[in-house]
Amino acid sequence: MSQLEINYNKNNNLEISKCDSINLVKKYGSPLYVINEEVLEQKCNIFKTILDDVYPNHIISYASKAFCCKYIYGIIKKYNFYCDVVSSGELYTAINAKFDPAKILFHGNNKTLNEINFAIKNKVFNFVIDNETEYENIGNIIKNNKSLKGKINVLIRVNPGIIAHTHEFVETAKEDSKFGFNISNPDTDKFIAKVYADNNINFLGLHYHIGSQIFNKEPFSVACKKMMDYIFCLKQKYNIDIKTLDVGGGFGAWYTIKDVRIQETDYKKIIKAIALEIKNAVKKYNLVEPTLIIEPGRSIIAEAGTTLYTVGNIKDIKSVRKYVAVDGGMFENPRYALYGAEYTAVKCNTTFDKQEKVTIVGKCCESGDIITKDVKLEKVVPGDVIAILSTGAYNYSMASNYNRNLIPPVIKVKNGKASIIVKGQTYKDLIKNDL
Ligand code: LLP
Repeated sequence: MSQLEINYNKNNNLEISKCDSINLVKKYGSPLYVINEEVLEQKCNIFKTILDDVYPNHIISYASKAFCCKYIYGIIKKYNFYCDVVSSGELYTAINAKFDPAKILFHGNNKTLNEINFAIKNKVFNFVIDNETEYENIGNIIKNNKSLKGKINVLIRVNPGIIAHTHEFVETAKEDSKFGFNISNPDTDKFIAKVYADNNINFLGLHYHIGSQIFNKEPFSVACKKMMDYIFCLKQKYNIDIKTLDVGGGFGAWYTIKDVRIQETDYKKIIKAIALEIKNAVKKYNLVEPTLIIEPGRSIIAEAGTTLYTVGNIKDIKSVRKYVAVDGGMFENPRYALYGAEYTAVKCNTTFDKQEKVTIVGKCCESGDIITKDVKLEKVVPGDVIAILSTGAYNYSMASNYNRNLIPPVIKVKNGKASIIVKGQTYKDLIKNDL
């Protein structure tokens, strides 16, 4: 199931988990983020089922950055997922949602001392160490608080140096990257050996992440094979056992009909390919079979999300372009501005008219404030409601108050019932920190 499977009700209105999109806008206003809980739960289930089947010794750690609010932690808890956080803000949200701190993994390439202390104070003891500075900071904290000795679990983030063929800004494992320790650098294995031998810390293993929105199994296999060879080198050279291997996230999601319609079988192929590389290497090199961690973000939440807008001005420049302006924009979905992202647009009150090519733009004072460019949409007039599909990932989580626009509310829908999960901002919220 995906929100890209478009359903109209008997009034010819788009429905999302049996909720009428026009009624949702009447009730909650627009722009409006809508999370289809059925789709979300289905995605959680897909990953859980695949991993249980393909690699039982696993942990699924939801990447909070894709969509973070108290609600999501309640959902992933039901599937026994862990979560990874990359800031004290995400951590604070998870803790406030009563997420088990023992199941939180703290990621990030420049965790501040305050953030590390904040995590430890909240009993978050799992760190993905990105660099030596962080290791030293954690070491100093343990030195000053002996009760922490042996309590802090660490994975070390390494960079296998592969190209994942996705957008440059979401590619994270090529040589030239700000993240982690490059495995091509001989100092990296010395560092790993040092951490392994450190009695103050509990070294678990390695983490890498190759990028985001990847559809094929190949880059995942190539990276995993390279890592398993590297793990063998560590075993030979320093007798290090890697008990945990965290392969990150990056599994693609479906945005437009031009995309591969990635579904359960495709995710399964990818996970199987990763598992195969691990198992082959374990056998060939006689290694310990590591616990496998995966960190899906987008693939869990993207397709569950829809954003509803009301159409305002329409500017038709004959033989050039037709602009349809909506009441949202880059403040609630910056992904076109950042990555040239493409989406599917749907008129909510369909009359099954012919589609025309339009560019859907926001209300921010920037020409680059585009929601999606050159898409097909039925003819719309001011006041019509349109939906942009598959906006669950990296929309709400990357929203801002640019131009002092308010971040819209997020609602969840399931089987005909809707409720608010994040209230919309108010003008009071906007100025509450202004002195
Ligand atoms: N683990 C690590 C260490 C990551 O850096 C990321 C994403 C994930 C897991 C989750 O990846 P996913 O399964 O969501 O692909 N803002 C961009 C995406 C940035 C992804 C950053 N890291 C976008 O809107 O496309």
